[in-house]
Amino acid sequence: MPVVAILGAQWGDEGKGKVVDMLAQRVSMVVRFSGGDNAGHTVSNPAGEFKLHLVPSGIFAPEVTCIIGNGVVINPKVLIGEIDQLNQRGVDTSRLFISDRANLIMPYHLLLDGLEEEARGGKALGTTLKGVGPAFADKTARLGIRVGDLLDKEAFRERLGAVLDHKNVILTKVYGAKALSLDEVYSQYCQYGERLAPHIRETVIMLHEALDRGEMVLLEGAQGTLLDPDFGTYPYATSSSPLAGGACLGAGLGPNKIDRIFGVYKAYCTRVGGGPFPTELKDETGDLIRERAHEYGTTTGRPRRCGWFDAVAARFSSRVNGFTGAVVTRLDILDVLPALKVCVGYKLDGKNIDSFPASAVALARCRPVYEELPGWETPTTEIRRYDQLPLKARQYIARLEELIACPVSLVCVGPERAQAIEKTPIL
Ligand code: IMP
Repeated sequence: MPVVAILGAQWGDEGKGKVVDMLAQRVSMVVRFSGGDNAGHTVSNPAGEFKLHLVPSGIFAPEVTCIIGNGVVINPKVLIGEIDQLNQRGVDTSRLFISDRANLIMPYHLLLDGLEEEARGGKALGTTLKGVGPAFADKTARLGIRVGDLLDKEAFRERLGAVLDHKNVILTKVYGAKALSLDEVYSQYCQYGERLAPHIRETVIMLHEALDRGEMVLLEGAQGTLLDPDFGTYPYATSSSPLAGGACLGAGLGPNKIDRIFGVYKAYCTRVGGGPFPTELKDETGDLIRERAHEYGTTTGRPRRCGWFDAVAARFSSRVNGFTGAVVTRLDILDVLPALKVCVGYKLDGKNIDSFPASAVALARCRPVYEELPGWETPTTEIRRYDQLPLKARQYIARLEELIACPVSLVCVGPERAQAIEKTPIL
């Protein structure tokens, strides 16, 4: 039985939550493996519209076990709030489990995210200010506090005391901020620990037992490949890997266990926060896409920058992930445009290139080389079969497939489950 990964192929917000929600009906486990509550997954299903930040989008499928893996950083206050909200709206969260190895977002991470951004001034990264970067930095620096630590209060206090001594020096001496109180943070996090205890598990064991039973598992990505700290537009990147490789590390399974890897692409591109974006449209077409698609951040409410589909970045993304298939979302947004542009190369300092540069400075100097395709100028939101899409829409998809060098399996023409058209069977 396969393990299937659903990954962001651009700068995040590609509509992965919707795809996971739809496919969760056919699997027995969904595992989130990276990021934190910087992610915002909007899911619209018969139970209503939900904005999830930490809870896997599989939570709406009654038989599915949902896991927040070791690779996620967890703000317990946000997670508890999300669980409460789901429960209030009648969604059962008793099948939600959190890895004891996942690192916690602590109050000093939130403070430092803001203070570090402020110190960057005009070079701010535009982070979501959720403390995600500082939490992953501490994980790597071996200063992290993990979910499992909350279960041993004595050891937790000792560990927190040592870490907080260090953090308070940075807060007070570097940034002139107020020190945090050990007693306050300790008692607050002990309460969170008690509340979350029924959900805390050694989730790697649960995952492998499910695989041994031959069950189908879905790995749910957060953010997108172009925000990866290695392959994204560094330093305008996030702090954990949204890639297929990141899925192995953040869930706890070997690469040979993943059978299918789907990259989720929007039919155009968006980006939120700072950093280069070669196909950005700072004109009325960009505004039209933003308003039609309501491109405003789920987590921060910031307007998203919108632009044409960048096939250079898309092919790079496919390569570093090993995509076996692609999903194209929000095709319907393009329904009203008479002509569409796709970036097929860049002009960098007078030279044509067809690869995605490592340097964000170089990428910022790249000018897109466009190919123009005719628009279909026909509504697609009511279409349910691939062969009923307008010919020009199918030609657009076919050209993307060629350029990305990856077959498209699923095309979405709206936010509802029924608006996902399977071109070829995805599972
Ligand atoms: P951070 O992950 O909050 O540190 O933010 C780093 C960069 O990643 C910023 O440009 C954010 O806007 C971007 N980012 C983080 N999470 C998401 C997401 O879920 N969707 C889109 N962009 C994101």
